[in-house]
This record gives sequence, C-alpha cells and structure tokens, in this order.
Amino acid sequence: MNEVISTLLSHRSIRAYQDRPVEKEVLEQILQAVQAAPNWVNLQHVSVIVVQEKERREIFARLCGEQPHIAQAPVFLVFCADFYRTYLACKKKGQEFDSVVSQIDNLIVGAGEVGIALGTAVAAAESFGLGTVPIGDIRLHAKEAVKELNLPKYVVPLLGLCIGYPAEDPGIKPRLPREAVCFDERYEQDLSNLLEKYDKEYSEYLLKRPWNSRVGNWTDMAADFYKVPYEHYPEVPEMLKEQGFYPGSEG
Ligand SMILES: Cc1cc2nc3c(=O)[nH]c(=O)nc-3n(C[C@H](O)[C@H](O)[C@H](O)COP(=O)(O)O)c2cc1C
Repeated sequence: MNEVISTLLSHRSIRAYQDRPVEKEVLEQILQAVQAAPNWVNLQHVSVIVVQEKERREIFARLCGEQPHIAQAPVFLVFCADFYRTYLACKKKGQEFDSVVSQIDNLIVGAGEVGIALGTAVAAAESFGLGTVPIGDIRLHAKEAVKELNLPKYVVPLLGLCIGYPAEDPGIKPRLPREAVCFDERYEQDLSNLLEKYDKEYSEYLLKRPWNSRVGNWTDMAADFYKVPYEHYPEVPEMLKEQGFYPGSEG
C-alpha cells in the first residue's frame, strides 16, 4: 500500500482540536492542492473562503447549529460554487447570464466541483497529520452565511471544512460492504442481504462508541434522517434563488 492510499484509508472526521495553529505554509499547500484539482472545462467554478479569526469562527459555529468544533479548529474553510467569474467574462462580452446560470445542470457542476475540492482538501490536510470535518450545516442558515461571507450573486456556500491538529482519535467508521457500493458492469438492485449484514456491523460499532448517542443501525439512521417532511435546510431554495441559481429564477 502506498502512502497516499494509506492516508486515505485512515480517514476519520475530527470534532476536537488542539489549541495549535495550522502553519501558514501548510495551509498554503492545502489550498494549492484544491486549485490543482480537476474541474469542468477549466472554468474553475469553486471559491474557498478561509476563515481564521476567532470571533468569525464563533459566528459560523453558531450559524451551523451550534457546532463547537468550528470555533475550536483554527481554520474553517467555506467551499462555494462560484459562477461570478464566468459571469464577469460573459458580461465583458455583452452576454446575458441569468438564464444560463439558473439551469439546474450548473448547480450540478458547482456542487460536483465543490465536492472534488473539499475531498482534495481533506486528503491534503490529513497528509500533514491534520484532522478535518466537513460541515454541511453551513447551509442551515444559508442566507446569513451568504451575508457573512460577502458573497456576490452567482456564488453559493455549499460546504464548510474544519481543519486543525486532532485532540481526539475517534477511530475509523465502518463503511457499507464494498459490493453494495461498487458494481461490476451493472447496478445490482438486490441489496437486502448486504444492508442487513451492514446493519449488524453498524449497530455493534455504535454500541462500542459510548460518546455516540445514536442507537439502532444504519437502516434506522437513514430512515430517520429522511423522514417526511424533510426539513434539514429549509433556507436553501430561497438562498439559491437570491443568488441566481434556482431553475426559473431568471424570470
Ligand atoms: C457533505 C458532508 C457534510 C457533513 N456535515 C457535517 C456537519 O455539519 N457536522 C458534522 O459534525 N459532521 C459532518 N459531516 C461528517 C460526516 O458526519 C462524516 O464524514 C460521516 O459520518 C463519516 O464519518 P467519518 O468521516 O469519521 O468516516 C459531513 C460530511 C459530509 C461529506
């Protein structure tokens, strides 16, 4: 196993951080790695806002539903899908942009690139012995996050990422069986046995983690998460509309 694979396979999210800064040159290399990642047509539809001031990390800890690790980690990155630069290019050429960016495929492009960028940042940070945890809850108060970050139209905050030196070792979380996730040639729709097997493994894992309040198994957790009405991030449709991304928002 090479070093890159060994780092990737050791991943676990960290939610407790040492009171120790991330070195400037280390952060710079993480950001360089993010920029080097593949992207659509080299249009580069991602921006990263680096939040390091303590009072601002505290604001984001609150905005993201009281997540103390955001204030504790010395670095909080916010990954945005960003069509502002491509808007400027089109504007310079006298082209209309609203009807272009509001097509749903652009949201897929932006979200895909943000995912690639965040995954790259996680791998780069972990290669330096740093810990990370992605923060989807940056979309909890999405409109306030837009204001706090001074985002122009055509830029939306999709994910956050805490980075710092770990003050805990929570261990590696077991994943679904590989055959339930990776398929040869065609999708295998009969997953019941594999999911049952994973439910057993996952419930044993949860019982072994006294700090994890979740009970039950993976199926219980997934069904509970997606129970109707689904209302994790109710502000998102309006925020997307205000930022010019929602289908039909050009009207
Ligand atoms: C898109 C995304 C959003 C996430 N949002 C949060 C979050 O808001 N708060 C948090 O504590 N963890 C968050 N996580 C971390 C996941 O809970 C974690 O990655 C998952 O449970 C697997 O655990 P592991 O990373 O330790 O292997 C997020 C992860 C991803 C990929």
